[in-house]
Amino acid sequence: MLKNFSLLILVVFFIFIVNALSVSAKDNRCEPLFSMNCAECHELDRGCGLLGQSPKEWKELLEFMEEMGADIPEEEQALLMDCLSKPDDTIKEACKNL
Ligand code: HEC
Repeated sequence: MLKNFSLLILVVFFIFIVNALSVSAKDNRCEPLFSMNCAECHELDRGCGLLGQSPKEWKELLEFMEEMGADIPEEEQALLMDCLSKPDDTIKEACKNL
């Protein structure tokens, strides 16, 4: 009985860890995308001022950046749109520290 109980604790603990890891990985994905792709041609604070705009507005702006020569991989664009329209803490933190 006791053995089963510790096993249960272990399993719950394990699930908790895996969950915490995957959440933090997800939470950290915005900031690098933003810093790496958006500071190439101008200061990052350009983008910071517009965080929270709708994805449609960001899409238009992104298209403009691409005409200017930005080269952002297709699969990163969707994520980036998501990050810019619903900024997470990492991206806000990066903007605050500029
Ligand atoms: C290839 C160069 C380049 C890259 C990469 C780039 N931009 Fe720009 N960006 C420009 C240029 C050129 C302008 C317009 C000239 C200016 O205002 O300095 C501009 C202007 C802006 C503006 C002001 C637009 C306005 O209407 O006033 C914002 C906001 C902006 N960029 C955000 C971003 C974001 C967010 C990213 C990353 C996804 C990004 N930029 C990546 C070149 C770039």
